[in-house]
Amino acid sequence: MNSPTPTSWLEIDLNAIQNNYMELCRISGTKVAAVVKANAYGHGLIRVSQAVLDAGGEWLAVARFEEAEQLRKNWIMAPILVLGFTPPDRVVEAAKENIRLTVFDAQTAHHYSTQTSERGMRVKVHIKINTGMNRLGISPQEGVEFTRWLSNLPGIEVEGVFTHFARADEPALDTTERQIRIFEEVLDSLKAAGVKPPIVHASNSAAVFNYPKAAYDMVRCGIALYGLHPSPETPLPATFKPALSLKTRLTSIRELDAGEGVGYNYRYYTTNKERIGTIAVGYADGFRRVMGNKALLRGKEIPVVGSVCMDQCMVSLEGIQDAQVGDEVVLIGKSGGLWRTTEDVAKEWGTVNYEVVCGMADRLMRKYIYTNNRNDG
Ligand SMILES: Cc1ncc(COP(=O)(O)O)c(C=O)c1O
Repeated sequence: MNSPTPTSWLEIDLNAIQNNYMELCRISGTKVAAVVKANAYGHGLIRVSQAVLDAGGEWLAVARFEEAEQLRKNWIMAPILVLGFTPPDRVVEAAKENIRLTVFDAQTAHHYSTQTSERGMRVKVHIKINTGMNRLGISPQEGVEFTRWLSNLPGIEVEGVFTHFARADEPALDTTERQIRIFEEVLDSLKAAGVKPPIVHASNSAAVFNYPKAAYDMVRCGIALYGLHPSPETPLPATFKPALSLKTRLTSIRELDAGEGVGYNYRYYTTNKERIGTIAVGYADGFRRVMGNKALLRGKEIPVVGSVCMDQCMVSLEGIQDAQVGDEVVLIGKSGGLWRTTEDVAKEWGTVNYEVVCGMADRLMRKYIYTNNRNDG
């Protein structure tokens, strides 16, 4: 079926995501929970989750309960772990929908227990231990006591225990080794007390490569699933493939004389006669309003000139004589032999690749590339 021509769109290669998922399984040697929070890092929550499950995925992880709810509304029935805080008034739904919650404080846990046990229900929870990230989690010293107490609360089933690394993408440092040591001390004490939960997990994408010993029963991978490098110090092996491209169209071409201003506040002036094009991507699409952006057209790199507007921006078409209205313009991805990566853009924006893809706006149509090779036989 032909889909209508979009003005500006994201092309998402679901086969690349499946490839990356299988690589993560192979390299980690354990279960991989696909981290699909933040609309699957901008790639599209439902389609990405379905693709991972089609490739044999078992677990999904999100940041908020609302994201898990959206998955269930779309008939995605795999186990889901909510990594962040869930308000107690959602716990009955969590129990009903078999959504696992993260627990890291006694008061909230107590509220969960009251709500579920009153209705004869049980909610599965994973206890988060703070081993040094200092964001969420109970202290390692309280680990055993808290787990014992929680395991005896009615309406609660303690299914997992986990931690999160702060600097796993910086392998030269000893921070992660310290976090692993602290976590393993907690695990040993839980084992000795006979309350070790069945699923232990700690690693994000970077840790899969840098700390294979911390794979335990499951790893939680986001960035590598999308084929993006965890950090400059932790590049992905060449077997991983980036899944996302950002594309738009050339919507207008004009010839300007020397000394003419372009766009809001005239932050660009032509120095000679110059052909200026307009493209249909702006900061409301997640394309940042910074100077020095670049684009690819007909296999050549061209500069974005002037301020990025809300829905559009201008490019210099010098050196591209054959450019035509309607031409495809690539902001992230390949054009001819050239490739602008998410990492190139992140560097120019002074941020990380995570923020670039998570910032892609909802209004960008997501065009999925997907060949289902599964034998449903
Ligand atoms: C608790 C937790 N686990 C796992 C991940 C996945 O991390 P990454 O995208 O680096 O693989 C995140 C993402 O920030 C997270 O917050």
